[in-house]
Amino acid sequence: MRILLYAGKGGVGKTSVAAATGVLAARRGLNTLVMSLDPAHSLSDAFDLDRTLMDKNHGAPIGVGERLFIQELDIYEEISRYWGEVHKYISVLLSASGIEDVLAEELAIVPGMEEIAALLYVNQYAKENAYDLLILDCAPTAESIRFISLPKTLEWYMKKIFRVERKLIGYMRPVAKRFSDVPLPEDEYFASIERLSQRLQGVDRLLTDPETTSVRLVTNLEKMVLRETQRAFMFFSLHELSIDAVVINRVFPDEAQVGFMESRQKSQKAYIDLAKTYFHPVPLFEVPFYSSEILGHDALTDLGDQLFKDRNPADIFYTNRTCEFSATNGTHRAKIHLPFTQKAEVDLSKVGEELIIRVGNIKRNIILPRSFVPLETEKARLIGDYLVIDFGGNHE
Ligand SMILES: Nc1ncnc2c1ncn2[C@@H]1O[C@H](COP(=O)(O)OP(=O)(O)O)[C@@H](O)[C@H]1O
Ligand SMILES: [Mg+2]
Repeated sequence: MRILLYAGKGGVGKTSVAAATGVLAARRGLNTLVMSLDPAHSLSDAFDLDRTLMDKNHGAPIGVGERLFIQELDIYEEISRYWGEVHKYISVLLSASGIEDVLAEELAIVPGMEEIAALLYVNQYAKENAYDLLILDCAPTAESIRFISLPKTLEWYMKKIFRVERKLIGYMRPVAKRFSDVPLPEDEYFASIERLSQRLQGVDRLLTDPETTSVRLVTNLEKMVLRETQRAFMFFSLHELSIDAVVINRVFPDEAQVGFMESRQKSQKAYIDLAKTYFHPVPLFEVPFYSSEILGHDALTDLGDQLFKDRNPADIFYTNRTCEFSATNGTHRAKIHLPFTQKAEVDLSKVGEELIIRVGNIKRNIILPRSFVPLETEKARLIGDYLVIDFGGNHE
C-alpha cells in the first residue's frame, strides 16, 4: 500500500488537493482511501456530501465513487473502541480535581489521541493491504508534526518509562489510597496502553520508508505560508519522512489581472522563484486559482488533471532525503542533498535560524532545527551527492 500525506498551513488547500488526488488515482484504477486527520473535517464537504450521511457512518470509510472511499475519524467512536480505560482514568482524575463530569470527559480527550487513532488505522490498512493507495489529509502543520512524531515518542515512553511506572504504581496503590483522594490508575489502564502500543508496532517504519510514504507539502504564494512550508520541510526531514513534491496552490493564470489582483499576480511571480530556491530539487506542482470554490466530483476531477496532467498521482516523484540532521558525540551535522555540484562552487552562510547555500546561481534556504540555531557552521565538505556540514562553537 502506498501512503501519501498532504500537509501544510490551514486553508492552503490540503483537503481539496488530497481529494482531487484520490479522484484521479481511483480513475486510474487504484483502490483508494482518502482519510481526514483534521478534527475540523471538511473532506465530505469537498465531495459535497450530505453531512448526516457522514454522521450516521460513525467514522468508517464510505464509498464516494468507483474504487474511491473517504474516511473522517470520529474521535468519540475511537475512544470507545481503543481508549476506554485510558479515557476513563483521565476523566476520573479530572473529576477528582473538582472539574465537572461533562467537562472532565471532554478534557480527557488529550492531544495526541486523535493522531494515535489515525496511526492505528494506517497500520491496520497497511497490514491488511486494504487499499492500493491511502491518502492522508492532514490537520494544519503543528498537529501533523505531532502525528508523525508520535510513533517515536511512544516507543521511547514504552521502553523507558512505561514498565517502571506500571511497577511503581503497583507498589504505591495500597499505600496511596490511605493518604490521598487522587486515584491511581488501575492495572487495566496500563494493559490498555500496552495493547495500543502493540497495535502501533511497525507504523514508524511505514512512515519513514520512502518507497511507501511520501509527504506532499501544499503551499500558497504568500510570504507567511511559504515560511511555514519551509519549516514543515525541515520538520518532516528531521523525522526522516521523504518529501516527494511541493504543491503550489492558487496560482494566478498567466493572463493579465486587473485591479488589486494585478499586484498579487506580480508578487506571486517573485514568490515562485523563491519557492524554487527553498525546495529545490523537490519537484513543484502548480494548481491554478479557480474562480469558484472546489466542490464536488467534477471540480475535483478538474483539479486533479490540472495538478498531475498525465502523470500518475501515486508515483514517487522524488526519493532522496533532501536534508538530514544528526547530533552524535556532540557534533551537530547537517547532510544536504546537492547533486551535480563541485566544492568550489558552494558558498555557505547562516543567518539566524536559516542556512543559506549558494551553488552558482542556485540558492537554497534551509530552516534549521532548534538545537542548531545557536551554533556556527564549522566544516563543510562534499561527500558524493551530499554536502555535509558540521556545526559547533556556541557563539553566544
Ligand atoms: N486552487 C483553488 N482555487 C480556488 N479555491 C480553492 C483552491 N484550492 C482550494 N480552494 C478553496 O479554498 C478553501 C480551503 O481549501 P481546503 O482544501 O479546505 O484547505 P485546507 O484543507 O488546507 O484547510 C475551500 O473552500 C476550497 O474550495
Ligand atoms: Mg482541510
